[in-house]
Amino acid sequence: MRQHRRTLRLLGSLLLVAMAASVTGAAPAPAASPTPLDRVIPAPASVTPGGSPYRITRGTHIRVDGSRETRDVGEYLAKILRPSTGYRLPVTAQGAGGIRLRLAEGPFGAEGYRLDSGRGGVTITAAKPAGLFHGVQTLRQLLPAAVEKDSVQPGPWLVAGGTITDTPRYGWRGAMLDVSRHFFTVEQVKRYIDQLALYKINKLHLHLSDDQGWRIAIDSWPRLATYGGSTEVGGGPGGFYTKADYREIVRYASSRHLEVVPEIDMPGHTNAALASYADLNCDGVAPPLYTGTEVGFSSLCAGKDITYDFVDDVIRELAALTPGRYLHIGGDEAHSTSHEDYVKFMDRVQPIVAKYGKTVVGWHQLTGATPAKGALAQYWGLDGTSAEEKARVVKAAQNGTGLILSPADRVYLDMKYTKETPLGLSWAGYVEVKRSYDWDPGAYLPGVPGGAVRGVEAPMWSETLENSEHVEFMAFPRLPGVAELGWSSAASHDWERYKGRLAAQAERWNVLGIEWYRSPQVPWGAGGG
Ligand code: ACM
Repeated sequence: MRQHRRTLRLLGSLLLVAMAASVTGAAPAPAASPTPLDRVIPAPASVTPGGSPYRITRGTHIRVDGSRETRDVGEYLAKILRPSTGYRLPVTAQGAGGIRLRLAEGPFGAEGYRLDSGRGGVTITAAKPAGLFHGVQTLRQLLPAAVEKDSVQPGPWLVAGGTITDTPRYGWRGAMLDVSRHFFTVEQVKRYIDQLALYKINKLHLHLSDDQGWRIAIDSWPRLATYGGSTEVGGGPGGFYTKADYREIVRYASSRHLEVVPEIDMPGHTNAALASYADLNCDGVAPPLYTGTEVGFSSLCAGKDITYDFVDDVIRELAALTPGRYLHIGGDEAHSTSHEDYVKFMDRVQPIVAKYGKTVVGWHQLTGATPAKGALAQYWGLDGTSAEEKARVVKAAQNGTGLILSPADRVYLDMKYTKETPLGLSWAGYVEVKRSYDWDPGAYLPGVPGGAVRGVEAPMWSETLENSEHVEFMAFPRLPGVAELGWSSAASHDWERYKGRLAAQAERWNVLGIEWYRSPQVPWGAGGG
């Protein structure tokens, strides 16, 4: 019996070795060899391997300084490591060695960090807690995927020796979730936030209103949520966030160092609001709720004063709920608003955003009006966008409008990968993994001054997406590539090398229960499929 158990245990470890070898997709490495420091996504700015690895053991402590924010990052790391290692991993301000998180002056900026690993410990140093948090994501990816499991695993828990010094290329590395076309619960949004954090995404743009649903409670206009939020594409029950729900999303995002950017899309994409309040319509007649997927048929009434009272109330309440700097006012596809009315509307609405202390973000059609000073325009055109439209965006950028790049035929995560993809849309074409990754935000729109590009964002429109599995299948494996475009230098950009690093992520997605698309463009190992 004893003998039999030992044999089983031996078989078990052999199996683990075999699995570890097969999922790397490369030459089988001994199970105990640590992940190379340059295997991380997004690619770090500088990697210097060398020296002995660090091994997390039963005796490892997570050392933090006295600050609350550093301790929070330490506790976050401990929560990831404890279930799989089975170790106590106390988070403490005492002693030396082990895993150390320290705030210090240095060339790290708001989000950069340095990670030093050797026999005596791993130290992550940053100027700000966000840098420590991003360094922890790097550490996480350097540990075996099994570290993500929620039951005790055999280890060993090795971190390769050497130094990583890392800062992001862009300050805006966003992901958008459309919670209007289909509603997503607070728990579903949190799940996505955790997936975004793993790749150092730092903005969560929530598309809170559209023709098919109004998703945020506004006390001064209660029917927006209770009636305007009562359905969704396909006629399902929809839903909305109470103010407490929204605050919980903001709090959770903040704990993962993401800033929430709320969007109220105006003056088009407003059928849910128009259906809720007849007075908002030019003709005073409320249209029915809408559960289809057409765009461009609705408009707030630019000529009525009540429109601006409404906008003022909504922006005031939303700004008060939102600690972040930005408020997105949409502005896309206003096909039922005359150009004159569009310009008038934007001229009146942008100062309201400023009045409540926020910076305007709008889809790039805002550049067809007069973007407020400091406003950001989110470019969602594609290769086929007219030269005239691109020229307007370039001119606005030359005049000081910052750009967030979300080209639809590159980073719209709701575009099908191929014509066989069961979910998603294809109006911007099919977007396989390589196409999504293989472009340079810094050179994308010729004529745009370098400093005008503030970063990239990957929108996820939800006409066809109803749950987390759907969102994940469209996000993975493209999302890590967008994250890398936002974080890593243009010089590090290399599809051939990237696809190998991407393949190595699959085992972690499997452990985390993330749905993903097995793109034939990526050399997944035998265990990745
Ligand atoms: C958009 O896709 N209408 C911004």
